[in-house]
Amino acid sequence: MSAPVPVVSPIRLGVNIDHVATLRNARGGLLPDPVRAAALAVAGGADGITAHLREDRRHIRDADMARLKAELSVPLNFEMAATDEMVAIALAIAPHACCLVPERREERTTEGGLDVVGGGAALRGHIGRLAEAGIRVSLFIAPDPAQVAAAAESGAAVIELHTGAWCDLLAAGEGAAAEAELRRLVVAAEQAAGLGLEIHAGHGLDYATAQAMAALPQVRELNIGHFLVGEAVFEGLETAVRRMRAAMAQGRAVLRGRLAASHAAA
Ligand code: PXP
Repeated sequence: MSAPVPVVSPIRLGVNIDHVATLRNARGGLLPDPVRAAALAVAGGADGITAHLREDRRHIRDADMARLKAELSVPLNFEMAATDEMVAIALAIAPHACCLVPERREERTTEGGLDVVGGGAALRGHIGRLAEAGIRVSLFIAPDPAQVAAAAESGAAVIELHTGAWCDLLAAGEGAAAEAELRRLVVAAEQAAGLGLEIHAGHGLDYATAQAMAALPQVRELNIGHFLVGEAVFEGLETAVRRMRAAMAQGRAVLRGRLAASHAAA
């Protein structure tokens, strides 16, 4: 009897609502409310909500994090820099997960991956304190073999692969370079899975690139924000999230087809 076709795991969608807060803060005041956006994202099929409390509080604020934790019916993923201040806030809020990201005040968004190789004892200490409190710790890293290996030694259970460079290359029409970056993502996902890490991906994803990421068997979660908030202007957030879920389901369907074909050929 032949071996069964490998089972494809479900894939989760975390919706990042930072840029609803960006819009609110452009005017001051309370609107649009990121917590209302979170509820609409959940109605559209989000499995979780992601929010980044930056050191300069340029979008999400402390009170938003507390309200998200109190009012959400789905897991909260708290994106943050690996600092004593943020670890203390995260421990007080007790989100489901923390994703540690590099942060520089002058950047427009999270530009590179976390340097886990150079993070040393300080980074391991932050990871340990969060993990001991029962918080799932994820490290946002570039698809670099040394960073993946260091992540596996760090005490974190999850890596989130930075898809920003790949998405930027695609948008710039740099096909060959984009293909090479995609290959780096695939190799990093395989390496990380072999080391027992759970793999997430995010940054710069749209419907097409999310579908492609969902076709990677090791990827268990995508975190997507800017594109969805932009689409919400045209079609509403709930609809945009629903379409994103459909794109991801299509990616998983492509993967199932690929696995079945290679199984039949074996
Ligand atoms: N994942 C991480 C770790 C991020 O820092 C961000 C940006 O805040 C995202 C995902 C979402 O990126 P985007 O807003 O480009 O979809």
